[in-house]
Amino acid sequence: MLTQTFSPGTLPVQHGSFYLMVWGCQMNVYDSLRLKDLLKKSGYTEVFAPKGASLIVLITCAVRAKAEDKVFNQIAAWRHTGEITQDTIIALGGCVGAELAEKIPEQEKQVQIVFGPRTAHHLPKLVSDYLASHQVQIEVEGSALDKFDCLPEEGMRGPSAFVTIMEGCSNLCSYCIVPYTRGAEESRPVEDILRDCQNHLDHGVLELHLLGQNVNSYRGLDAQGEVCSFANLLYEIAALPKLKRLRFTTSNPMDFSPDLVQAFRDLPVLADHIHVPVQSGSNRILKLMNRRYTAESYLELMQSLREARPLIKLSSDFIVGFPSETEEDFQQTLDLVNKVNFDLSFSFIYSERPGTPASTLPDKVPLDVKQQRIYKLQERLEELASAHGQSFIGTTQEVLVEGLSRKNSQELKGRSSSNRIVVFEGPEQLIGTMCRVRVQEVLAHTLKGELCKES
Ligand code: SAH
Ligand code: SF4
Ligand code: F3S
Repeated sequence: MLTQTFSPGTLPVQHGSFYLMVWGCQMNVYDSLRLKDLLKKSGYTEVFAPKGASLIVLITCAVRAKAEDKVFNQIAAWRHTGEITQDTIIALGGCVGAELAEKIPEQEKQVQIVFGPRTAHHLPKLVSDYLASHQVQIEVEGSALDKFDCLPEEGMRGPSAFVTIMEGCSNLCSYCIVPYTRGAEESRPVEDILRDCQNHLDHGVLELHLLGQNVNSYRGLDAQGEVCSFANLLYEIAALPKLKRLRFTTSNPMDFSPDLVQAFRDLPVLADHIHVPVQSGSNRILKLMNRRYTAESYLELMQSLREARPLIKLSSDFIVGFPSETEEDFQQTLDLVNKVNFDLSFSFIYSERPGTPASTLPDKVPLDVKQQRIYKLQERLEELASAHGQSFIGTTQEVLVEGLSRKNSQELKGRSSSNRIVVFEGPEQLIGTMCRVRVQEVLAHTLKGELCKES
C-alpha cells in the first residue's frame, strides 16, 4: 500500500511500487525512461509485473486506431486475469492521454489519473492529489519544454542513449494525430542538449540518438541567442570528445537542407543509416497528405545522400490505402520503392484518426483492397531488405555491443552503424564497447558473425 511522506525540497510523494508499460515511438520510450527516474527519485520502487504494483503507469500511442485500442484491451485483460484489483491505481499517459483526456475515465473507470507527454513530470504530484482526494486527476496541457528541466539527470542505461531535441510537431500531415497529442513544435536550447549529451558521454555512453518528430526543422537557440539549424547542432554534438556514433530520428523529406546532406560527408561519426519516411510515391496522394515534397524531389534527396555517404542504408515509412488512393497511385509507391532500394522499412494501412483533416476525405479505400496492397508492398520491402542483408556477408561491421543475445545467452548482441542487429560469440566484458565483427550469415534480418581478432 502507498503511504504519504513529505521531505523538504521535494514533492509530497506516495511511497510504493510502480509498474510501467510503454507503447509507441522512441519519443515515448525516452519519456518513459525519464519518468521511471522521476518515480524512483520520488520514492517508488519499480516492479516488473503488474500484479502487486500499487501504481500502474501506461504510456500510450495514438498514431493508429489499433495502437490506441491496445491500452484499453490491456487493462481489461489484467482485470480478467486478476493481475489488477480495484485498489490498483492506474495512471494513463502518453499520446492517448493527451488525445482523449477526460473521455478516458468515462471509457475505463479503473483509470484514476490521466496525463500527457507535456505533463509526465507532474505524475508524482497527481498521484498524491488522487490519494488525498480520491478524485480523478486529469492534466494534459502544459509547456512543451518544462519537463526537461524538471526530470532528474539520467544515469547510464547502456552504451546508447536517446536525447530528445524537440517536442511536438507543426507539420500537420493530414492523416496524423501527433500534432494534436504532442502539440506544436518546440526546440530545446542548444546548451541544454549539449549538457544532456555530455552527461551521457561522461557516464560511458558511446552512441547518441537524437529524437524529434521532425528533427530537420530543429530551430533551437544557442548561447548567443541565435537560431541554430539541425545541421549545425549535429556539428556541435559531433565535436564532443568520446562520442563514437551519432544517429537521429525522424527526418522529414520536406525540409531536408543541403547542409544536412553535407553533414554526412563531413562527419564520420554520423551512422551509415537514415530513416526518411516518404509515405507514398504518388504526388497526388502526397499533396492530399500535406507532405509538401514530390516523389521526384524525394528520389533526388536519396541520390544525394548516397553520393555523400556511399555506404548509407536508407529506410522509410509508408501508408497504403489513403483516401482515394488508386491502383495507379499504389503502383507509383512500388516504383519508388524499387528505385530507392530501401533497407528495413515500415508500412501501415491508413487508419482514420478522429479530428484530422484526412478523416473527412471522401473515397475511402475498402479494407480488402488496403490489405492486398499492404501485402504486396511488404513482400517487396522484404525482398529488398533480404538482399541488403545478404550484401553484408563477408563485410566487417563496427558493432556497439548492447548486451547478451536474447535467444542465446552465449552470444553478444549489438548494432551496426547501418542499424542492423548483429550477434556473435564473445566475452561479456565487451558489453558497452565498440568492436569489429565479420559477418558470416543472415538470420531473418539479424547479422551473425565472428569477432575480429584485433577487437
Ligand atoms: N514524424 C514522422 C512520423 C511519425 S508517425 C514523420 O513525419 O516522418 C510514424 C509513422 O506512422 C508515420 O511515418 C506514418 O507512416 C505512420 N502513420 C501516422 N499516422 C498514420 C495513420 N493515420 N494511419 C496509418 N499510419 C500512420
Ligand atoms: Fe505526423 Fe507529419 Fe508531424 Fe510526422 S511530420 S509527426 S507524420 S504531422
Ligand atoms: Fe505514437 Fe505519440 Fe509517438 S502517437 S508514434 S507515441 S508521438
